[in-house]
Amino acid sequence: MSDALDLSRVGGLVTKSITRQPRDGNAVWRVLPAECGMLNAIGLANVGIDAFLREYAPRVSAVPTTIIGSVAGFSIDDYVAVAAAMDGVEAIRAVELNVSCPNVHGGLEFGSSPALLSDLVRECRRVLTRTRLFVKLSPIAAGPVKLAEFARAAVEPGNSPPAGPNHRPGADALCISNTMPAMAIDVETRTPRLANVTGGLSGSALHPVALKLVHDVYRAFARDSGTPLVGIGGVLRWEHAAEFILAGASAVQIGTGLFADPRCPLTVAKGLEKWAARQGVGSIAELVGCLKV
Ligand SMILES: Cc1cc2nc3c(=O)[nH]c(=O)nc-3n(C[C@H](O)[C@H](O)[C@H](O)COP(=O)(O)O)c2cc1C
Repeated sequence: MSDALDLSRVGGLVTKSITRQPRDGNAVWRVLPAECGMLNAIGLANVGIDAFLREYAPRVSAVPTTIIGSVAGFSIDDYVAVAAAMDGVEAIRAVELNVSCPNVHGGLEFGSSPALLSDLVRECRRVLTRTRLFVKLSPIAAGPVKLAEFARAAVEPGNSPPAGPNHRPGADALCISNTMPAMAIDVETRTPRLANVTGGLSGSALHPVALKLVHDVYRAFARDSGTPLVGIGGVLRWEHAAEFILAGASAVQIGTGLFADPRCPLTVAKGLEKWAARQGVGSIAELVGCLKV
């Protein structure tokens, strides 16, 4: 990324999700263009936590922005092991739990049951001595009341150990959201276009959906509990980021936009700066949740 843009100009960088063991991921095709975004079924391909610690962690401290380590797993023990290892890397300031992974014990995604999510967050919180904890919610738990229930389960998991200074008992922030389950079919061969059959939809088509999720969770839970939200989905231009901010997000992440233009975080940041000036505010923070409804 630093070949494409000056990373000191962005607020932070989230790693690829890291698992306990290395993973090759799914067979190809695993990334496809959709007319309205992108489909992927990467299957969490990554080097695994040991190689991450050996090969990437030493270089991370030289990256001139905040590093957020994304953690994935197939059991609570998996998540705890990777989260604890990342907590030991000084340059990592927060871990983000990617809860859109199936639990080997029962098959349910961690992000699809509030009780399971609370258990996961509680156990990960226990091993974090230093890093902030972010939880990236899955849009499959959509619906304003339901997603707010997941938000509460992640932020207030119950029976937590005493929180450190400025830390909450559960998640410090919620990231909304991951991709939407989706698929594409080649009608001539009558076969699925992704080798995994189904995958996740990201990019433009996801944006209005993720925006509503941020809006709903902000109003139902985050505003009153003071939980920061990170808007994720289809940010390609500054206007998309501004929408997330007005809906209640304190920050945004960009995924698919980087495939179209690796420099897009800079144009988004510049656009936001000019927008804030036109709105007469000194900081974007003053515009968070300022949607007039
Ligand atoms: C190719 C690809 C790989 C992704 N890998 C991960 C991952 O490892 N962990 C994760 O939490 N989300 C992953 N995502 C989801 C993105 O982080 C993001 O939540 C989603 O794509 C929506 O944002 P976007 O529209 O800006 O891409 C991936 C998305 C894409 C397109």
